[in-house]
Amino acid sequence: MPQFVSDEEVKEQGFFMKRVCAVTHMFDHVPLAYTHSYGCQQNVSDGEKINGMLYRMGYDFTDDPEKADFILYNTCAVRENAENRVFGNLGALKHLKNRNPNLIIAVCGCMVQQQHIADRIKKTFPFVDLVFGTHVLHKFPEHLYSIFAEGKRVYSLPESEGVICEGIPVKRDSKFKASVPIMYGCNNFCTYCIVPYVRGRERSRNPEEIISEVSGLIEKGYKEILLLGQNVNSYDGNGVDFKELLKKLDNLEGEFKISFMTSHPKDCSFELIDTIAESRHISWHLHLPVQSGSNRILKLMNRHYDIEHYLSLVEYARKRIPELQLTTDIIVGFPGETYEDFCETLELMKKVKYDSAFTFIYSKREGTKAAEMDDPISEEEKGKWFRELLEVQGKSGEEAYKKYEGKVLRVLCEGKGRTDESLYTGKSRQNIIVDFNGDEQHIGKFVDVKITKVLNWALVGEIIQ
Ligand code: 5AD
Ligand code: SF4
Repeated sequence: MPQFVSDEEVKEQGFFMKRVCAVTHMFDHVPLAYTHSYGCQQNVSDGEKINGMLYRMGYDFTDDPEKADFILYNTCAVRENAENRVFGNLGALKHLKNRNPNLIIAVCGCMVQQQHIADRIKKTFPFVDLVFGTHVLHKFPEHLYSIFAEGKRVYSLPESEGVICEGIPVKRDSKFKASVPIMYGCNNFCTYCIVPYVRGRERSRNPEEIISEVSGLIEKGYKEILLLGQNVNSYDGNGVDFKELLKKLDNLEGEFKISFMTSHPKDCSFELIDTIAESRHISWHLHLPVQSGSNRILKLMNRHYDIEHYLSLVEYARKRIPELQLTTDIIVGFPGETYEDFCETLELMKKVKYDSAFTFIYSKREGTKAAEMDDPISEEEKGKWFRELLEVQGKSGEEAYKKYEGKVLRVLCEGKGRTDESLYTGKSRQNIIVDFNGDEQHIGKFVDVKITKVLNWALVGEIIQ
């Protein structure tokens, strides 16, 4: 059974928000917060909760850390370069703290949930006031209040399997696109991945909570709902599985789009594909991370599927959803991967012809199984393989999009153009980027666009009135 944070505890945090509010009201100006979330959508979604709590506590927001009274980095631990960026950015805050000793600096998220990182921050960055891990996000008001009340540094990194906390205020970045976490944590322990160590065990929100949140969002005019989970296919909300949850959401009335990520190929069922094919609102988009084209490497990665099974899913999905956009994640240079293994990944890319792929060079994560495996290939060599992969993918992206030339796609307009500032941009039901000749009043609305130009990462077209 998932461990839900009790109503009393949620209320208690409400009291702390009020107390902080009483403090911030005494400032001679409206205090400003600068917050930045690194990494995946789940982290960005946590960032929206932090902003929701800050807003309730009397803060407004700024994009300029120099003007801020409160600075928070919500960190990511998936790859080392993201961590290094945070260390670099933290170092640069020292002069701000020297200039304004009342400035509060906080670090939270996956990176600090690792003890060795929290220790390093404690030692190297004495001007950081607050460090809290992913399991105590809901206690942020209490921690912030202790800093005001006691003036001490707060480190809150309890060991936990993870909890679910409903009722945290959310300040959403967009007025028409909303992320809705349906589950937290991960049980898969892919050998390269730090997520299960920093986000705890898999736990699902109750379907009633999710449905009421989504229908509330649609009533408010939200047009795109992104359901989030490390492995949405293993969602289990009191016996309701993922495809059943999708069906319930698809039954809601209105014009809106439902997307989701991420699907694990071992749990992605043929019935899920049927559900997408038969739906009214679900995006024709499957993000199905394959990670490697070599069965030997997939085994070492502890992925629990082979390429033959993966290809059968792809074949079925493309048959049932002819306009499917298929995307993936790939890791190059996993410990022990040979050039022959890597060539199998290249072959897979050529065979599947993904619409788009997120490719990463393997990054060693302390505490994972892969970190103990022999890794004889040099970074330089891995870089060469990586570039080879990008070249193959570049070609297949463009090929995959050619079929849209001359077609009309329904697009949710998001803002200024990505290919050209004079255009407007949005995403189609396939979640493909489409730029077109729109204007300000189209933002947040669906429009029909006839595709006139195909790039390898986007489509360009003209609005049909
Ligand atoms: N090194 C490189 N890439 C990684 N990913 C996860 N862990 C690592 C790592 N240690 C990639 C996987 C995953 C995506 C979100 O990040 O491809 O699907
Ligand atoms: Fe990491 Fe694997 Fe879990 Fe995804 S499924 S978060 S890659 S352990």
